[in-house]
Amino acid sequence: MSCDFLAQAVAGVQKLSPYVPGKPVDELARELGLAVDSIVKLASNENPLGPSQKALAAIQAELPELTRYPDGNGFVLKQALANKFALALEQITLGNGSNDILELVARAFLAPGLNAVFSQHAFAVYPLATQAVGAEGRSVPAKDWGHDLPAMLAACDANTRVIFIANPNNPTGTWFDQAALEAFLDQVPEHILVVLDEAYTEYSAAGELPNGLDYLSRYPNLLVSRTFSKAYGLAALRIGYAASSPVVADVLNRVRQPFNANSLALAAAAAALTDDAYLERSRVLNDQGMQQLTAGFAEHGLNWIASRGNFIAVDVQRDAGPVYQALLREGVIVRPVAGYGMPQHLRVSIGLPEENQRFLEALRKVLAA
Ligand SMILES: Cc1ncc(COP(=O)(O)O)c(C=O)c1O
Repeated sequence: MSCDFLAQAVAGVQKLSPYVPGKPVDELARELGLAVDSIVKLASNENPLGPSQKALAAIQAELPELTRYPDGNGFVLKQALANKFALALEQITLGNGSNDILELVARAFLAPGLNAVFSQHAFAVYPLATQAVGAEGRSVPAKDWGHDLPAMLAACDANTRVIFIANPNNPTGTWFDQAALEAFLDQVPEHILVVLDEAYTEYSAAGELPNGLDYLSRYPNLLVSRTFSKAYGLAALRIGYAASSPVVADVLNRVRQPFNANSLALAAAAAALTDDAYLERSRVLNDQGMQQLTAGFAEHGLNWIASRGNFIAVDVQRDAGPVYQALLREGVIVRPVAGYGMPQHLRVSIGLPEENQRFLEALRKVLAA
C-alpha cells in the first residue's frame, strides 16, 4: 500500500498552487519545432541587454574557486552594498534572489494563527510564502489596479505580522509616491513588519519613486527588498538583498541557509554594482521600449496600465488565454495573468526594439484573426 504524501504535507502546502513561471524558450522550441533564435521571450521581466561586462569578468575570475563553498556571510557584496547605499553591514541580508528574502520573512515572522496583508493583483509570491507556513493571507482589493494603502492598513489586526507592498508592483506596474508611503508608514503599528519590495526600482530615475532605503532609520519595522535579477541583468544567478534594522536582519539570518548566495552570484553582483553605465543603459532602453509598446497599443486601440517596471500589462479586450496561445504559435512568449485576477490582460516585458516590434506585429495579426 502506498502512502498519500500529499495528505501528509502540512495543511498550508497541501492547498498551494505552485508559482507558474514564464515559458522557457527551449520548451516552446521543442513543442512547436521552432528554432530557438526565432523565438522572442518577453515573459519574465528579464534584462534584454545581456549581462554587464564587469559582471561577466568577475564570474570568470571566480571560476577557479568553484570547489570552495561561498563566503556564507557574503562579505564582499555586503560591503559593496553598504558603501553604495550608506548602510551598515548588519542591516543587510543576502538572498537567493529577492524571492528568498520574501520566504525568509514568512518563515521567520508568520505561522498558523497569524496573518500577512497584501494587495489584490500583487506579486504571487506574497500569498504563496504566506500560505506555505500556514498563515492567513489577506488580499485587499486594489484601487485603479494599484495598492489601496489605507485599506491595507484597515485590514490589519493584532495578528498581522507582515504587510507586503511592491513599488512598483508586478504584474500591474503601478506605484505609489513618497507622500502615500510616508502616510502609510506613519500609521502602521510598530509590531508589523512592512516589506517594501523594490525589485524594479532601478528602472525609475532618481526622485521618480520614493527610495525605501531613506526611511529605514525612521521606521525600524521597515524592510526593503531588492534584486539583481532585473535592471542589473543577473536573473540566472539568483541574488537579491534586504536592508532592514539589524535586529530584523539577525532574525532572517537565523532561518537563512548558510550558503544561500553562491560565489559566482556574489562576485557578479558586487561587480554589477560598480557598472553605473550599464544600469543607465538598461533604464534608457526600458523607457524607449515602454514608449514603443504604448504607441503600438494606442495604434491597435488597446488600453494598458501605466507602468514603472520593465513590463506592461495590456488589456486585449477579450479572454487573454487564447491570445497568449496564438502568440506562442507566432514564436512570441508573453505572460498570461489570469492567475492574478486579470483575465483580459497580458503582461509583456520590455525587450530590445526589434523584439518589441516582433511582439506588436504578432499581436496585431493575432487580434485581427
Ligand atoms: C515584485 C517582485 N518581487 C520579487 C521578485 C523576485 O525576483 P528575484 O527572486 O529574481 O529577485 C520579482 C520577480 O519577478 C518581482 O516581480
